[in-house]
Amino acid sequence: CMLCDVIKILAAYATNRRSKGELFMSTPHIAAEKGEIAERILLPGDPLRAKFIAENFLDNAKEYTSIRNILGYTGTYKGVPISVQGTGMGIPSISIYVHELIHAFGCKKLIRVGTCGAMHKDVKLRDVLIAQAASTDSSLIRNIFNNINFCPIADYSLLEKAVASARKLNLPVKVGNVISVDRFYDKDIDNPRLTTYGILGVEMEAAGLYTLAAEAHVRALALFTVSDHLLTGEGCTVEERQTSFQDMMKIALETIIEE
Ligand code: HPA
Repeated sequence: CMLCDVIKILAAYATNRRSKGELFMSTPHIAAEKGEIAERILLPGDPLRAKFIAENFLDNAKEYTSIRNILGYTGTYKGVPISVQGTGMGIPSISIYVHELIHAFGCKKLIRVGTCGAMHKDVKLRDVLIAQAASTDSSLIRNIFNNINFCPIADYSLLEKAVASARKLNLPVKVGNVISVDRFYDKDIDNPRLTTYGILGVEMEAAGLYTLAAEAHVRALALFTVSDHLLTGEGCTVEERQTSFQDMMKIALETIIEE
C-alpha cells in the first residue's frame, strides 16, 4: 500500500547504527531491527507502564526503542516471545505506533492494556473491561468510510480467549461497547445518552487500534482497568489501581500466548 511505501522510504532515511556499530533499520518512531519485536505485543498508553510490564511480567526483557521516550521491550512469558510498547495517548498517537508495528515489524496479535473511565452504573471501580466494540467521535472513521459508520470491533478469537482466561482465573470482567473519545476534557459530549445505549466506559485509543487491525487483517483486543467513574466522580486508590492492573495483566498475558 502507499502508506507502506512511505514507511519504507522514511525507514530508509532513519537508518541508524547501534552502539555496537551494526546497521539497522528503524521506522520514524520505533528504533528496532525487524525481528526484534515479537508478533505478540501488549500496548499500554504510558511508556513507563511498558517498562513496568517488561520488568515485572516478562522474562529476559530487553529495551528495543526509546525514541521520544516512548519505550518498547521484548521478552518472554511462559517461554513465548512477547513485546510491550508504549503508544502515547489518543487515536493519532496509537495509530502511528500500531501502523509501524503492523506494517514494518510484522506484529499480528495486539492487545491494548489501558485504563478507562466508567460510564455505566453496572461498572465499578477496579472492574476489568473488555471492549467488544469501540464507538468513537474521531474523524478516523469518516475519513476512511465517508458516510458509512464503520463499527470497530475486537477480534473474536482474542475476545473469546480473554473471557475464558478471566473465568479460569476467577476474575470478573465486563464485556461491551466503549467509546474512544478525541477529547479528554469534553464538556459537549452527551455522556447520559451514551450510557443509555449501553456504553460501558470511555478511553481514547481502542477505535484506532481496532480499525487499523481490521485494515491489515491482524488481531486486536483492548482491555482496561477502570481508573475513575464518571457517574460518581470516584477515583481508584493507588492500591486498588495496582490490584486491578495485576488482574488485567494476567488476563492479557494468558490471552496473548494462546495460538
Ligand atoms: N476519559 C477519557 N479517557 C480516559 C478516562 C476518561 O475519563 N479515564 C481513563 N481514560
